[in-house]
Amino acid sequence: MKSLNPMPNKSQRRKLDLLIEGKIYHSGEIIEAYLGVSEGKIAGIWISGEFEYNEKRTLEEKEVALPGMVDIHVHMRGLEQSYKEDWSSGTEAALRGGVTAILDMPNNRPWIRDEEILMRKLEEAKSMALVDYGLYFGVPSSASELDKVKDLVVGIKIYPEDISAGLDPILQRARELGLFTVFHAEIDGDETRGISTVMRFIERYGGHITHISSADGVRLVLNAKTHGVEVSMDTCPHYIWLTEESVDWRGYVRPRIKSSMDRDVIRSSVKHSLFDAISTDHAPHTEEEKKSGSTGIPGLETALPLLFTSVYSGEFPLKTLDLYSRNPAKIFGMKKGCFLPGNDADIVIYRYSDRRRIKGSDFSSKAKFTPFEGFEVVGGVSSVYIRGLLALDEGELKVPRGFGKLITRRRN
Ligand code: DOR
Ligand code: ZN
Repeated sequence: MKSLNPMPNKSQRRKLDLLIEGKIYHSGEIIEAYLGVSEGKIAGIWISGEFEYNEKRTLEEKEVALPGMVDIHVHMRGLEQSYKEDWSSGTEAALRGGVTAILDMPNNRPWIRDEEILMRKLEEAKSMALVDYGLYFGVPSSASELDKVKDLVVGIKIYPEDISAGLDPILQRARELGLFTVFHAEIDGDETRGISTVMRFIERYGGHITHISSADGVRLVLNAKTHGVEVSMDTCPHYIWLTEESVDWRGYVRPRIKSSMDRDVIRSSVKHSLFDAISTDHAPHTEEEKKSGSTGIPGLETALPLLFTSVYSGEFPLKTLDLYSRNPAKIFGMKKGCFLPGNDADIVIYRYSDRRRIKGSDFSSKAKFTPFEGFEVVGGVSSVYIRGLLALDEGELKVPRGFGKLITRRRN
């Protein structure tokens, strides 16, 4: 195996802050290598060499260094819904799940569609977040509102209720400002109709369809792609592994979990990396609310273990991990999600020496239930580094609340 980047010669060699030696995941492969971190960034991956470093970590036999996962669809709640989740509990759930960057949805109480409310949410996030975070804006009353917030948000989220004639100027302006557009494509629970409807906008302005849940949904988006439409899509763990027959109240979610045929198509589309990304749609509610019909599932603490388990068993190729790290980071232009020199040194040490069963009662999320209750997974997250700093170690938080940094759109 050749070295992935040339070994710096003596005169160029910097002292590394951290050197990790052991199994390193990189672009669909696991290699025995050295991963170097300098000033919070990835310095390189080397197969051999002599290094100067401040700190060295030698991984255990059954540990692997993965890039921090990037989740482009979560609901941290907060504001008036802090009883469901807040930026402290939600980002702790992310950290424990090996997710080092999250993008948060605007359907809060109050809804995030103007600058003032956005600032209120930002304040909470700033003081509480443990992982890096970006925010989506809701559909504002006029396109000019986007100009005011363009440097604070990564994109806009369009819900089915937002589809109207007034949407065009908003999407037009979002595109001009380099803000990303994410669609919830469902009309009265019908994903096929929802996708056909939003595709008319995506054909004009580009966009992303989140939480695809059906075989038809996959087909429609793939078909649009082959016709050159600038569209991307993600699905969620509950559509990859669950069916409508297998879930109770814990699995109520919008879009709903569908048939085993849909699940099989979603699953094989993940296997073949036909999706651009995986997101969790982490959407906490209280148990009482769930039992009376609220839709949404906490997902941040189960996504990586479930994915790792399917990769470990050989069902999915290793590079499937890119769908929850490298690819979403790339879609949003984040310098994260893979171990390229210069990227943020967001590193998850995943230990796979044992098997365990998923238990909602173990979650850091305020929502302590999961449709994956009792599922057996291989291993879990043992430590997490964010921007080169140890943020979680053997279950212990090592950074203060507010450590997380705001992610915005890079405009080059
Ligand atoms: O199940 C869902 N829960 N789907 C959504 O689109 C929203 C989310 C929530 O915010 O609870
Ligand atoms: Zn959502």
